[in-house]
Amino acid sequence: MAHFPVMSAEVIEYLAIRGNSRVADLTAGLGGHSKQIAARLDTGVLVMNDRDGESLAEAVVNTSEFSARIRPTKGVFSTFPQRFQEMGIRRLDALLVDLGVSMKQLTEADRGFSFRLDGPLDMRMSRDSEEDLTAGDVVNTFSEKELADIIYEYGEEWRSRAIARAVVRARPISTTRQLAQLAGHGAGARDTKISPATKTFMALRLYVNREFEELKALLEALPSLMAEGARVVALTFHSSEDRIVKQRFQEFQRAGQAKILTKHVVKPTDEETRINPASRSAKLRALEWLAVPQ
Ligand SMILES: C[S@@+](CC[C@H](N)C(=O)[O-])C[C@H]1O[C@@H](n2cnc3c(N)ncnc32)[C@H](O)[C@@H]1O
Repeated sequence: MAHFPVMSAEVIEYLAIRGNSRVADLTAGLGGHSKQIAARLDTGVLVMNDRDGESLAEAVVNTSEFSARIRPTKGVFSTFPQRFQEMGIRRLDALLVDLGVSMKQLTEADRGFSFRLDGPLDMRMSRDSEEDLTAGDVVNTFSEKELADIIYEYGEEWRSRAIARAVVRARPISTTRQLAQLAGHGAGARDTKISPATKTFMALRLYVNREFEELKALLEALPSLMAEGARVVALTFHSSEDRIVKQRFQEFQRAGQAKILTKHVVKPTDEETRINPASRSAKLRALEWLAVPQ
């Protein structure tokens, strides 16, 4: 399948990479952005991170022509500062996060992310740890109220109560197809433009992977990671994530620690959304780091 890194021209422009830059791509996915970054480095280094070991392995293969400049590392945002410190690289000159799921995750039925494919209710971005909660655990063990709250808060779904009720009545639920049916036709859907199950699936994915908490942890860590003049680029696909990025960037700017480079959020061109419809909800924000505490 063709893979298009989202807003890659804009990402590269705002990252302002030089040949000797120290760059981190925290969401390597299939390595689309990483490859374009690595191609611009000579003496510099790209720290290529993803929490999903299967995706990271593919990113390593897809960027192999630049392997001499790339340092792969696996884990979540909240453990990145520790892992970065252990690498012995000084502060970063550029950092990219491209949030959400990768095409690989979305199109493999057994990962359980897609309501269009039948698979187990998993939705963990990393399948390494057996301790992590799966979407199946949430759907089958949480109370009706807890489920409704998750679907409402993370999915911004106004039918959350009806969906939670339908789910609890139908338990146990083991497949994405079962859940898609319950979240759709069983619960009074009327929006025909997007699948009625979209928001419920997104809510469970965001909750299971603690995606908002992870993003906040990363933003908190920026002062300890970035060099003076460094660039931070964030691509989001969800209004709550964009809000988290926007507000934290504003706080850094108010505190004199950073300057916002994107006065208005940057969106993909019509041409890009035509070629790659998956890019249509993307929002890009960029920051230049000013102050580094001594
Ligand atoms: C949209 S994809 C990135 C695609 C990539 N930019 C490319 O061009 O191929 C998002 C990736 O971020 C990873 N990810 C999401 N949240 C993460 C987190 N908190 N820590 C580490 N990786 C994360 C996912 O596993 C997924 O592979």
